[in-house]
Amino acid sequence: MTDRSHDRLLIVDFGSQVTQLIARRLREANVYCEIHPFQKVTDALLETVAPKAVILSGGPSSVTEPGSPRAPQKVFELGVPVLGICYGQQVMMEQLGGRVESGHHREFGRAFVEPAGRHGGDSIFSGLFAQGREEVWMSHGDRVTAIPPGFEVIGTSPNAPYAIIADTDRHFYGVQFHPEVHHTPNGAKLLENFTWLAGFRGDWTMGAYKDEAIRKIREQVGDAKVICGLSGGVDSSVAAVLIHEAIGDQLTCVFVDHGLMRLGEADEVVGMFRDHYNIPLIHADESELFLGALDGVADPEEKRKTIGRLFIDVFDKHAREVGGAKFLAQGTLYPDVIESVSFSGGPSVTIKSHHNVGGLPEKMGLKLVEPLRELFKDEVRALGRELGLPASFVGRHPFPGPGLAIRCPGEITRDKLEILRRADAVYIDQIRKHGLYDDIWQAYVAILPVRTVGVMGDGRTYDYACALRAVTSVDGMTADYYPFSHAFLGETANRIINEVTGINRVTYDITSKPPGTIEWE
Ligand code: XMP
Repeated sequence: MTDRSHDRLLIVDFGSQVTQLIARRLREANVYCEIHPFQKVTDALLETVAPKAVILSGGPSSVTEPGSPRAPQKVFELGVPVLGICYGQQVMMEQLGGRVESGHHREFGRAFVEPAGRHGGDSIFSGLFAQGREEVWMSHGDRVTAIPPGFEVIGTSPNAPYAIIADTDRHFYGVQFHPEVHHTPNGAKLLENFTWLAGFRGDWTMGAYKDEAIRKIREQVGDAKVICGLSGGVDSSVAAVLIHEAIGDQLTCVFVDHGLMRLGEADEVVGMFRDHYNIPLIHADESELFLGALDGVADPEEKRKTIGRLFIDVFDKHAREVGGAKFLAQGTLYPDVIESVSFSGGPSVTIKSHHNVGGLPEKMGLKLVEPLRELFKDEVRALGRELGLPASFVGRHPFPGPGLAIRCPGEITRDKLEILRRADAVYIDQIRKHGLYDDIWQAYVAILPVRTVGVMGDGRTYDYACALRAVTSVDGMTADYYPFSHAFLGETANRIINEVTGINRVTYDITSKPPGTIEWE
């Protein structure tokens, strides 16, 4: 997957929870980087990636334990700058002749680092220490107790005498704290300084990415036909518009409407692609097929599997109409591609069977075009804006492939779906009106499989209860519930009950992930 057309920074992942944040900060500084797990960083990989700088991430291990991970020695022989963060610093010290000892006290949380020695003015500090010291976030058990020849201490904190160390001749740096997290307010600046001294010039922009991606798509596809499954989500839409810009009418999109879309969603997506972009589009209204197959199905996994299976069949059927397509386009993102560091090597449990068009490429003999494989979600949004997609569309919350089916626990009926659509529209309208939409990762209504007694006017009601869900998240892997004001919740409940016949009780779901998941099923 390595792209050789721009300078690359290699991040060697030792399994820290926040390794992806290093990449985020670097991308924000317009530096192209790739994360590879330490086990995969072989001499051959180093040759392929040919990095202009290397960052060694933090990690949960202790270098004092036998068998704990190391960087290939070659990393230190490439002649490029290396920055070790936390465990990465300790690995570097260990491998270059310093000493690391097991700490008896874990240091966790906020600390202050002061510049030390004659290198207080080193370029890695540029723009830092304006107030004399820098706030940083520490999280370590072990600590460095002796540094190798050539290294000097250039920053200290009361508990970490080797908070920042440097060999300024070889451009090797080590920090005991985590510059990539928000709790190190100037950490991003420190990382950017590191890339500058490595010779990066922050020229990896979305405009440049777009032009390059278009060139690569043309190169890959030639004059062959491409099909793309549109879900209405941001990723597949951006992929489609980008590919269309590259190869025009060689691209046909297939939008499978499974009858589980939100209010007005199918029209919005079809209208935008067919009318606004003039992209050839097959609108497959298969709602009868899907809703028929889901009739009486209450089990979440059975729902997901039914939808996944039908989706593949229907997509396959319509894609064949395109005739002779050789490629399938997918909106795969970088977080889906990064291989995670696994120490146990054991299989992870399946929490939910995710729905995608997996299985199709082999079945149909198609090759994949995945132009977003190098991007994070917010970069995809930036690319969407670069391609002229409307801001309101680009900023949309994620929507799951199985759609409203997994927001309707228990059996799905057309009535329930209709009530759910209208309640969801009111809720999202409320969120937009209050200017909260962009602060929230995802918000939706789930209709609950329970009816409750209420009173409206002079009459008794016996209607469905619903749950509002709104979460903040960086990547959907973990999430916190959104702290709406009571006034907002009260007003929203009131509107839903008054405007949506069929609901007489509104609850707010305050479960974080974990232990909950974002969707109810
Ligand atoms: P959970 O519910 O697992 O969801 O916490 C995490 C994120 O993934 C989305 N999601 C899906 N997206 N196909 C998708 O394309 C699926 O089958 C699927 N299931 C969940 C969910 O909306 C959230 O953003």
